Amino acid sequence: MDMTPLLLLLCAGGFCTVGLSRLRQFTLSERKVNSTEALTTCQKNYSDPVTVNNQEEYEQLIQLMTSEKITSAWIGLHRTQPSLVWSNGDPVNYTVWSPPNYTNPNCVATNPNVTWEICYQEKNFMCYKKGVHDPTLRYTLVTEKKTWYDAQSYCRENYTDLVSIMNEGEKEEVKNKGMNSTTPYWIGLLYDDWEWGDGGRSVYRNWFKLKLNSDIYYYPQAGEAVPVLMQNGMLTVPPGNENLYTFCSKGKLS
Ligand SMILES: *[C@@H]1O[C@H](CO)[C@@H](O)[C@H](O)[C@H]1NC(C)=O
Ligand SMILES: *[C@@H]1O[C@H](CO)[C@@H](O)[C@H](O)[C@H]1NC(C)=O
Ligand SMILES: *[C@@H]1O[C@H](CO)[C@@H](O)[C@H](O)[C@H]1NC(C)=O
Ligand SMILES: *[C@@H]1O[C@H](CO)[C@@H](O)[C@H](O)[C@H]1NC(C)=O
Ligand SMILES: *[C@@H]1O[C@H](CO)[C@@H](O)[C@H](O)[C@H]1NC(C)=O
Ligand SMILES: *[C@@H]1O[C@H](CO)[C@@H](O)[C@H](O)[C@H]1NC(C)=O
Ligand SMILES: *[C@@H]1O[C@H](CO)[C@@H](O)[C@H](O)[C@H]1NC(C)=O
Repeated sequence: MDMTPLLLLLCAGGFCTVGLSRLRQFTLSERKVNSTEALTTCQKNYSDPVTVNNQEEYEQLIQLMTSEKITSAWIGLHRTQPSLVWSNGDPVNYTVWSPPNYTNPNCVATNPNVTWEICYQEKNFMCYKKGVHDPTLRYTLVTEKKTWYDAQSYCRENYTDLVSIMNEGEKEEVKNKGMNSTTPYWIGLLYDDWEWGDGGRSVYRNWFKLKLNSDIYYYPQAGEAVPVLMQNGMLTVPPGNENLYTFCSKGKLS
């Protein structure tokens, strides 16, 4: 187990700030605004609507919500042009990974041929561990069926991330390691049209899992310019025209 980092939660005059360090801090906007105003409300405080990079930051926001006794707030995720991204932020070689002809999110499964699939299908997946060079230890095939988004969370918590494939050698190593999967398994390549305020470098998607009667995944239609908020620990879209606080963040990830 990793050691739980010490979270700094500072409150003054009714406003709380949370951050792992003084380099990057999260606050809530002073007042509730609608989704349009959420885009600019943080500027008043020389900050931006929050970009979430990982589960740790996500948990800091939840802590902030708890301390402020709110259940939802606007964040800095918006709709944009579709693009290809590796889960760990590696650059994508377009000549090898040509994007699919879809406007909705697609994720790559392989075994060993590559196919583009709907990301919330449940499949086995492959994680990797950064800094480990022995391919038998670097790659791990997980034979538990999960959506691409849940697989990403699993790999990030238990390894480094979903695997990315940068060259023929790695492709071969992943192929060998994946032989025990009888079905196609997820790798870290995602094609979608969402972007955080950091210009798309964050591939964090704790995705729309609107619980209706059971586990039903809601996904907005392509081009539907829906605002996104964080509600009860999941990213989701608001049911109506709501006025909410906005999560603002100051400072860069070191
Ligand atoms: C949000 O509020 C502003 C100012 O009150 C208003 O001009 C704008 O139309 C509102 N946007 C939405 C989506 O309701
Ligand atoms: C800016 O954020 C701080 C909390 O870090 C808060 O005390 C202050 O009121 C905010 N100012 C504005 C103009 O929003
Ligand atoms: C992309 O892949 C092609 C073909 O494998 C290779 O020749 C090229 O060097 C790669 N480019 C980058 C930036 O990795
Ligand atoms: C993508 O699909 C659309 C509609 O099915 C079609 O008109 C278009 O030619 C396709 N584009 C490519 C590059 O295959
Ligand atoms: C993978 O692709 C090759 C070449 O297109 C094909 O011959 C082979 O049957 C495919 N394998 C699977 C498992 O689909
Ligand atoms: C990490 O692995 C453990 C044990 O396999 C599992 O219970 C846990 O859910 C995993 N973490 C995530 C975020 O899925
Ligand atoms: C495949 O599974 C067998 C039996 O569980 C195991 O001995 C072997 O190491 C696995 N192969 C790989 C590449 O993980």
